[in-house]
Amino acid sequence: MSAGPLILGIETSCDETAASVVRGGREVLSNVVATQHDLHEEYAGVVPEIASRAHLERITPVLRDALKDAGIGYEDLDAVAVGHRPGLIGSLIVGVAAAKTLAWSLGKPFIGVDHVQAHLYAGLLGADEPAWPALGLVVSGGHTSLFLVDDPLTVRSLGRTIDDAIGEAYDKGATILGLGYPGGPKLDALAQTGDDRAHDFPVSNLGRERLDFSYSGLKTSLLYAVCGTPVGRGAEAHFERDASALSDKEKADFAASYQRAAVRAIMKNVGKAFDRHDVQTVLVGGGVSANSRLRAELTALGEDRNLDVRLPAMEYCLDNGAMIAGLAVRKFEQGQFDDLSLGASPRSEVA
Ligand code: KG4
Ligand code: ZN
Repeated sequence: MSAGPLILGIETSCDETAASVVRGGREVLSNVVATQHDLHEEYAGVVPEIASRAHLERITPVLRDALKDAGIGYEDLDAVAVGHRPGLIGSLIVGVAAAKTLAWSLGKPFIGVDHVQAHLYAGLLGADEPAWPALGLVVSGGHTSLFLVDDPLTVRSLGRTIDDAIGEAYDKGATILGLGYPGGPKLDALAQTGDDRAHDFPVSNLGRERLDFSYSGLKTSLLYAVCGTPVGRGAEAHFERDASALSDKEKADFAASYQRAAVRAIMKNVGKAFDRHDVQTVLVGGGVSANSRLRAELTALGEDRNLDVRLPAMEYCLDNGAMIAGLAVRKFEQGQFDDLSLGASPRSEVA
């Protein structure tokens, strides 16, 4: 077994209650994730109050399983870490309170980490150290951001979405197509069977200099293409049709074309960022890094340009405690501990 500090990472920023034990920032000894998708499905989105209550119910068994799967006791830990920002405040508070309580009662160091920064660490779990600096790409339900990463603790923002995040665009696109929740993986699967050239959806262009993103126009284009433009005014406004009028083939063509435009916007800015910065590595993280088309296009880019593309293993794409514990090891090694006054925050300081 490799050496290094043994850290418990806790993650409750949105709708997954997760805990993981990681040794030395690389070796994942356990990775427990309790999703709440079933609770939010009927609302087609995460309901904050339901999410925080579910975290409260699940946090203790999730922690117990994480320790059990790792084959260790609480006394074996060197520190307790938590994702304390950004996210839904009521959800974050559950994880932060659990982490502080454990750290205080065990007399172990307490470490808060930024969830967005932790997503960038996901491709380093179970892997060797890449060349620095790296380009960082976080694509999730809440973020679409590019970074220059000098090392896991030193990241600089290069660009971000000015409206919807790509994961949100996937989820809303899936709702428009009547695919259910969470829509990202469903739209991805359906797109595999469609013609990605059937429709020409817009790829945002915010100017040559900028590395920002915009997804609200894409979403509206799909809405109008599927449902037609709204008729009537004010409270009377409504669409003439919905996705139930579409055949399976038509739906698949919409999904494939939508996915082509969504991924194109990412690849365009990633290409521009590589032209401007001398980097050999790209770190990718966030739920949408599980997307089949994005993974294929980033892998092809890596082969073309001889880059080290760190796509996380599937279990580390979505929110998880391993990425929190992994990044926390870097803070542990530098003695960057937090005191118990650290609070939760809805905002990231890096993204
Ligand atoms: O990182 P994550 O678990 O939570 C946030 O920090 O937001 O990301 C969740 C997002 C959701 O919007 C979900 O639909 C999307 O990731 N997602 C996908 C895929 N798998 C998850 N989007 C596109 N294709 C996928 N295969
Ligand atoms: Zn996330």
